[in-house]
Amino acid sequence: MVMKVFEERRSIRRFGDRPVEDEKLQAVLEAARLAPSWANMQCWTYVVVKDRETREAVSATLERNPAQRSVVEAPVLIVACADPELSGKVKDQSYYLVDIGISLQHLCLEACNQGLGTCWIGWFDEDRVKSILGIPENIRVVAMTPLGYPAVYPEARGRKPLEEIVFRERWGQR
Ligand SMILES: Cc1cc2nc3c(=O)[nH]c(=O)nc-3n(C[C@H](O)[C@H](O)[C@H](O)COP(=O)(O)O)c2cc1C
Repeated sequence: MVMKVFEERRSIRRFGDRPVEDEKLQAVLEAARLAPSWANMQCWTYVVVKDRETREAVSATLERNPAQRSVVEAPVLIVACADPELSGKVKDQSYYLVDIGISLQHLCLEACNQGLGTCWIGWFDEDRVKSILGIPENIRVVAMTPLGYPAVYPEARGRKPLEEIVFRERWGQR
């Protein structure tokens, strides 16, 4: 079941305008809520945007991004925010990015399970997004995703074979 979702999920960049049912929106947010996090601190906050004008303003911050149009086409935009103070930092590795990454991916996988499409968007003008949505100074906007019914379901993008990404017992040992 989970494996099927892993295999079928795609980054969806073209959407129809069919609205997302409230129960489905609730289910994907619930999936995000259940994610593990550093010391269970749950550093995340999600801003759910349905207002078209606001989505158009956010879309303008995605200049040249292949997902720019998706934010207007899909009826819902989910903006993933994190408070870095509510997570760990070890030797320059900031775990708030991991926390929100897991949580947002939970959301994306449940969306796929519900027949909905998502696309991680990490390339945007954070300052402009913060100002459009009134997000406080200390909060980072890490990513966003459109949420809606896919209009185009793309071919699977390739992945490296396991032999290339797994060492056994020691670095360098295949
Ligand atoms: C952290 C992260 C940031 C991403 N940012 C963008 C983005 O700004 N624009 C976009 O079109 N896709 C973005 N993507 C989607 C990737 O391009 C996509 O996951 C990858 O090409 C594999 O395709 P698939 O998701 O359909 O398997 C991002 C994905 C991740 C995980």
